[in-house]
Amino acid sequence: MSTDPCEIKLKRVPSRKRSRDGVRSHLTPKKNVSSSETPAGEEEAEGDCSDHEDLFGDYDSILGDCSFMARLEDVEQDAKRQSTEKALEGSSAVDQGWGGGLRSSSPAFGALKTAGDHSRTTCGEGHAESDTMSGLNNKLHEDIPSSQSVFQQEVFTGTERGDTSTPVEKATGEHHIPDGSAERQGPKPHARWSMTDRMKRAMLENASAPSPSISKLAAWKEAVMTEEMDAAANTVQTVSSEIDLGPFYGLPTKVKDLIANLRGIKELYDWQKTCLTLDSVQQRRNLIYSLPTSGGKTLVAEILILKELLCRKRDALLVLPYISLVQEKVRGLAGLGLELGFLVEEYAGSKGRYPPVKRRNKKSLYVATIEKAHSLVNSLVELGRLESVGLLVVDELHMLGEGSRGALLEMTLAKVLYISKSTQIIGMSATLSNVEDLQRFLKADNYTSDFRPVQLVEYVKLKDTIYEVHPQEDDCFQFSRVLNFKYSSSMQKVDPDHIIALVTEVIPAHSCLLFCPSKKNCENVASMICKYLKKDFLLHREAEKAVLLQELRSSGGGALCPVLQATVPFGLAYHHSGLTNEERKLVEEAYTAGVLCLLTCTSTLAAGINLPARRVILRSPYVAMDFLKRSQYKQMIGRAGRAGIDARGESILILQEKDKLLVKQLVSSPMESCYSQLMHDNGKGVHSLILSLVGLKIARTLEQIREFVLGTLLNVQESHTCPERKLWDITQDSLEFLRQKGLLKVSKDCENNLVLEVTSLGRATYKGSIDMTYCDILYRDLSKGLDSLMLNSLLHLVYLVTPYDMVSQCKPDWMIFFRQFSSMTAAEQKMASGVGVPESFVARKAAGQSVKKPADPTVAARLYLALVLFLLVKENSLWSVANRFQLSRGFVQSLLSSASAFCSCVLHFTEELEEFWAYKALLTELTRRLTYCVRAELIPLMEVAGVLEVRAKQLYNAGYKTLSHLANADPSLLVQTIQNLSRKQANQIVASAKMLLTEKAEALQEEVNDLLALPPDLPSF
Ligand SMILES: Nc1ncnc2c1ncn2[C@@H]1O[C@H](COP(=O)(O)OP(=O)(O)OP(=O)(O)O)[C@@H](O)[C@H]1O
Ligand SMILES: [Mg+2]
Repeated sequence: MSTDPCEIKLKRVPSRKRSRDGVRSHLTPKKNVSSSETPAGEEEAEGDCSDHEDLFGDYDSILGDCSFMARLEDVEQDAKRQSTEKALEGSSAVDQGWGGGLRSSSPAFGALKTAGDHSRTTCGEGHAESDTMSGLNNKLHEDIPSSQSVFQQEVFTGTERGDTSTPVEKATGEHHIPDGSAERQGPKPHARWSMTDRMKRAMLENASAPSPSISKLAAWKEAVMTEEMDAAANTVQTVSSEIDLGPFYGLPTKVKDLIANLRGIKELYDWQKTCLTLDSVQQRRNLIYSLPTSGGKTLVAEILILKELLCRKRDALLVLPYISLVQEKVRGLAGLGLELGFLVEEYAGSKGRYPPVKRRNKKSLYVATIEKAHSLVNSLVELGRLESVGLLVVDELHMLGEGSRGALLEMTLAKVLYISKSTQIIGMSATLSNVEDLQRFLKADNYTSDFRPVQLVEYVKLKDTIYEVHPQEDDCFQFSRVLNFKYSSSMQKVDPDHIIALVTEVIPAHSCLLFCPSKKNCENVASMICKYLKKDFLLHREAEKAVLLQELRSSGGGALCPVLQATVPFGLAYHHSGLTNEERKLVEEAYTAGVLCLLTCTSTLAAGINLPARRVILRSPYVAMDFLKRSQYKQMIGRAGRAGIDARGESILILQEKDKLLVKQLVSSPMESCYSQLMHDNGKGVHSLILSLVGLKIARTLEQIREFVLGTLLNVQESHTCPERKLWDITQDSLEFLRQKGLLKVSKDCENNLVLEVTSLGRATYKGSIDMTYCDILYRDLSKGLDSLMLNSLLHLVYLVTPYDMVSQCKPDWMIFFRQFSSMTAAEQKMASGVGVPESFVARKAAGQSVKKPADPTVAARLYLALVLFLLVKENSLWSVANRFQLSRGFVQSLLSSASAFCSCVLHFTEELEEFWAYKALLTELTRRLTYCVRAELIPLMEVAGVLEVRAKQLYNAGYKTLSHLANADPSLLVQTIQNLSRKQANQIVASAKMLLTEKAEALQEEVNDLLALPPDLPSF
């Protein structure tokens, strides 16, 4: 098999086309397309496929199977015999029995009749053939799902009687003409092929698509899917949209089968069925749907996305709140994408291409974080391509109310609403109270249900008593039971809240999540619990826990967190942002597999991640020092109850007497409302919205800006979010602010109207998504860098992309700083001095002496962080760097991911400013290094979603050195050769690699097409 992705692509396109057309000719009626409508390429493809070619060289040929041919002959002989016997029984049977039946049951019969007397003969013959075909059909396709068999039968019957499954063709009632020029000219009396001939011919056509990976059955299935997809696409295009003619909500049956196979979901919940057939969905109006946690919201969104990609043939954008969720989704959808022929593109962290590659052949699903979705939409607006996104889905829509990220989400949605009227917007959430506001903003319908597949029972625990929560009733805490525990006095002291008693009621047989108010508390509680657990716990899945420990150790390059070392053997672990990405992934996987039965975690685990538990315990009603919000509480307890595993889930909130009243309010109050965040942080959102509106030329006059802001959520909620000032006043102030900052210019046109324009700094700022607080400092730093850029080490460049907003989170330890400073090269020290932090300053600070000429503390702290990043880029392990700087490994990890994201922002910033041309090449490479921070040879493997460093090393050492190696790997072999790799993980890795390879190959193909295309404005005579 070729390893060149480009070559694969170039060869496969035509063969695939041929395959489809060839198969269609005997399975499904060929479409009656007039020659003017037939794309030239398709005709060529068909023409390529002559019978003289060596058709079976690379194909899993059924003709090569003698037994099959023998069976075929037998079946045909049987049919002939039956036919003769029937003829002997009496010729009237043909007319009155079968023929009559067909006449009355087939609406297309009239059309067939018009073909002449031949139709009657065909009916008679069709009887025998029909039996023959069904006999064959059953033998050949036993493994096709029954729903599909029914469909295929219809297709067969349709083929025989000239019917089609597409509505348009049905309406015209045109007779399907099997492939072959003789038949195209019209039926000739007695000119009929034998069954064997027809089958052979059909198989020849099938086989003429020499795709090594497409088996006969797969090709058949694909033909059915193509047919269904065409039907659905035709429906969307030509029939009024209320009618859903696709077998599975407008989608091919194959989608249903894939969902069953890949997700294990065989039947949709009733609410999902209702939601998918809502008028709003059918007529493509915007929709917000809200259901409790674990209600199954994702599947509905995914089906709608597939419809957009496959039937409407437009791209779709799915917005998720966290990078980890995006990666999980990209991994999870890669398999579907490969099967159904669409691309899944990741937009998270520093990944994502702006503008996205314009693809002619395949449609793309962009899976993006809020930040990346905003940049993506901006880049599409700029090129006038926003309409290419037919569907925008926002998961966790209540994020609109979450600070600066909420503001970004609102800007993105407002732009799509304003510019692309044909883009449908779908929002979903479990925690929305003021949905009417959001409906007005999005001009959306609303669907709400309180369905939850697994019943959730809420409890609170006060002292040693458990009360069931009945939020609607006056006495909302109703006695349930007294906790049964036998504590020694020392245990009572260590665990006054009886956490051990609560968890041991469920573990190790079932899973349990224990939410704690702080990271430190998570670790302490986990350590405390396992000190008192019986030794029996050590035996539960002992070997797998040993493997987990081994993996955790190798993820830390030999280092292992002592808390995890102590807790994992008991089946416990903590989970919070202090874990590295690899540790977090390992812990999550082990918990999902039941190897770990209890996680002590912070509220971060509650958002979106699907890690359900039989029992969820809330250690206290606080997150850090703040009392829980209703939405946080709901998200946390919503993890209880695994669909399909537990009959019910339960949550227990441990409360103290002093908090009783507050907790009563917490459990019974309505959800908090979600408010626009454009005014967050002194109106930063409004500033950056207006800057980008002008920059993207969405609005160039005051009037246009006014019109745009009227369409924001901020406007809908004006009386609440800016009660003192009118939105219009705020907008004008913002314009003035941008002008004074040198980001916006105001001039007058020939008719004396005010015209707004961005300056080059303004353009760079919105293009790079740079926070306006830092845009001028960044400009100054980069300009200064041009004078004296030190390039014999990466330190200077790393310093320039060290995120400004991380600086306040870390105070330098001057001793460590001095030690690091002393180990720097002379050139590096000179550079440090150049940015304003000389060695003398650091030395005096380390010695605790007063400093005569103090350095700017922000610059010093930024350089300190740059040193941390610099060591990481030099391929030091995260653990050793964290140790050296006495920082938590989680902090070092988040510094690294912020730096890689900021580096790509700075890159886009510099691209817009001519004076910074030199930075482009430098920052492109630096972004890559910061993103992966590993040996260069591992980078291609780590580009695959879900492959982290340890796995990449294992794969590399096992001989999988490139993306192509992974894409072509055999999952079974991977499972055998790579330690601790489950079948599911292996499948996902291979699918993701295939998807990435396809995506890259397609992008190159597009480039080739663009290069070779004739310029439309080529001068001619
Ligand atoms: N029809 C179904 N039959 C069986 N299981 C289903 C069905 N639909 C969804 N699920 C499963 O239910 C679980 C929860 O679904 P999902 O993640 O979509 O919940 P959600 O509504 O998005 O919840 P949250 O608000 O917590 O994100 C998943 O494991 C999913 O595979
Ligand atoms: Mg969800």
